[in-house]
Amino acid sequence: MRFIIDTEENIAKLAAQRYVQLLGKQPDAVLGFATGSTPLGLYGELARLCEAGEVSFRNVTSFNLDEYAGLDGSHDQSYRYFMDKNLFEKIDIDRSRTFVPSGLDIAAAADYDKAIEAAGGIELQLLGIGNNGHIGFNEPGTPFESLTHLVELTESTRQANARFFSSIDEVPTQSVTMGIRTVMNARSIMLMALGKGKAEIVRKSFTGPVTPEVPASVLQLHPFVEVYLDYEAASLL
Ligand code: PGA
Repeated sequence: MRFIIDTEENIAKLAAQRYVQLLGKQPDAVLGFATGSTPLGLYGELARLCEAGEVSFRNVTSFNLDEYAGLDGSHDQSYRYFMDKNLFEKIDIDRSRTFVPSGLDIAAAADYDKAIEAAGGIELQLLGIGNNGHIGFNEPGTPFESLTHLVELTESTRQANARFFSSIDEVPTQSVTMGIRTVMNARSIMLMALGKGKAEIVRKSFTGPVTPEVPASVLQLHPFVEVYLDYEAASLL
């Protein structure tokens, strides 16, 4: 596991360079993307680099981590919508090769891992981390062997995400997420965390015991993980 610790602005730039390098060597790489506020700086930087002709996503296939159950991709809080607005519309990716779990066709979750495998497997999976250590929407207690599945969101996750909805009642109670095994199947993983609020869970995840109670701790078992942190998120390491 490699830690890259810098300012928030530099973290976005350094993480973006990882994509420039990867796609320079492997233009048709399969990428795993994440939503949330953490990757926004990275996505802005990727859009800028693509516009400047320094990176191209033309031959990329992508799979997103998760989606709220019950939300159609046109809902402005769906993760499909988030990805379209914050990344896909700003880069030269072929939208027909961008995949987000369906929030409506829950049965299709069972095929998501097969689709990833058929595409060749994920080369680089991007992750944020929840305050409770969740990766994707894999909440504490999720078995390490889980594949893409429907989950009940914890109250703390719904509270944390309520800021994007007009009231807590509108936050969905379930989501479809890649499982822990799905994430661990990626050949390399990049986890990003920003701000003091993530410092304690970052410490627990990477210096504490590997346990399903702290889902991100499983990453200690993966052979190629890079953890991009700003100084605040790294402050308890
Ligand atoms: P955030 O979410 O980037 O909005 O902090 C991360 C997560 O919950 O995985």
